[in-house]
Amino acid sequence: MRAVVYRGPNQVEVTDVPDARIERPTDVLVRITTTNICGSDLHMYEGRTSVEEGTVFGHENMGVVEEVGSAVTRIQVGDRVSVPFNIACGTCRNCLSGWTSFCLRTNPTEGMAGAAYGYANMGPYDGGQAEVLRVPYGDVNLLELPEGTEHENDFTMLSDIFPTGWHGTELAGMREGDDVAVFGAGPVGLMAAHSALIRGASRVFVVDKEPDRLRLAESIGAQAVDLSAGDPVEQITEATLGRGVDCGVEAVGYQAHDASGEEHPELVLDNLVSVVRATGGIGVVGVYLPEDPGARDEAARQGRIGFDYGSFFMKGQHMGTGQAPVMRYNRQLRDLIVAGRATPGFIVSHELPLEEAAEGYARFDAREDGWTKVLLRPGA
Ligand SMILES: NC(=O)c1ccc[n+]([C@@H]2O[C@H](COP(=O)([O-])OP(=O)(O)OC[C@H]3O[C@@H](n4cnc5c(N)ncnc54)[C@H](O)[C@@H]3O)[C@@H](O)[C@H]2O)c1
Ligand SMILES: [Zn+2]
Ligand SMILES: [Zn+2]
Repeated sequence: MRAVVYRGPNQVEVTDVPDARIERPTDVLVRITTTNICGSDLHMYEGRTSVEEGTVFGHENMGVVEEVGSAVTRIQVGDRVSVPFNIACGTCRNCLSGWTSFCLRTNPTEGMAGAAYGYANMGPYDGGQAEVLRVPYGDVNLLELPEGTEHENDFTMLSDIFPTGWHGTELAGMREGDDVAVFGAGPVGLMAAHSALIRGASRVFVVDKEPDRLRLAESIGAQAVDLSAGDPVEQITEATLGRGVDCGVEAVGYQAHDASGEEHPELVLDNLVSVVRATGGIGVVGVYLPEDPGARDEAARQGRIGFDYGSFFMKGQHMGTGQAPVMRYNRQLRDLIVAGRATPGFIVSHELPLEEAAEGYARFDAREDGWTKVLLRPGA
């Protein structure tokens, strides 16, 4: 079958790989209808992770069930499904308490909790930027969708970024009526802003420097803050009459940079500590890694990020972090889509056949104007 394979920094290739097959009785094979390129894939694409060459990328997957293993009872051939990016066993201590993103069983890497498809350090699982995906523990992991093709571009956000954005607001302890600052107007930041507005935020400030992304934030009723026009903390502090916001979401990650493009991994954390009021919450869904081979200094290469912990403590703030447990939210978010209350597909800018993935990666990675979210269609 055809799949998107990592060949080294800034290189992916669509090529033939062995067909996905049922390996364990609890497996399900899903024929992929839509698979998205994620900002997380770009960390690997740019050579900023320890991912191995030859890895099939793709953790934002949906499709139609093609085959089920002999122990699968709930999911049936022909079901239209969303595949959460987390691979969970469903029965370990973390899964049972709702933290499927920290499953204790599915990642064989020593010391790592949590597994995902086609991702550095997240276990030996091929990604879904391919014709067919093997889903372990299919009964546990798959979310059923209404049959047909309706809402495809909305439902395809259920595997990762819509639940991740929602999780950011949850980690921040957001409540209705809050003023919220979201750093990053990439797909994850835009989903966090969409979530905050659905959840009844008073005002949502979205910070970035890419004009097309800021325009999308405005299109859903958020207030754009252009960091290239001046310090975003000052802009938001002024707009809130000196109070700052009630809570904030970090949707940028360790490759955060200033207006000139220079990287400062602590920059957004510092900005959030400054702009969130005392006792407010900060939800960090942007990724930080224990090893960053491309970092500028030795500490950051070992994942040590020197942010303003002193002010964080003095302000009595709290912070939540980590990969989102998609299954905690995806059913409700699916139903919000069906009811017409959520439209996460508003960020989709490009729909390409799988064969054009290399171009999609290069242009999305360059944050080319208008390349906000790229969907790949293996069947096209
Ligand atoms: N926790 C999770 O479960 C989870 C899931 C998906 C993605 N992620 C992570 O979320 C982050 C965002 O993902 P994405 O797909 O939106 O990525 P993206 O790279 O498309 O978007 C990041 C945005 O941040 C902006 N940015 C850079 N520096 C900034 C700064 N100083 N202030 C404000 N904005 C700044 C960039 O211009 C860009 O638009 C990535 O780190 C990704 O790995 C986490
Ligand atoms: Zn993703
Ligand atoms: Zn588990």
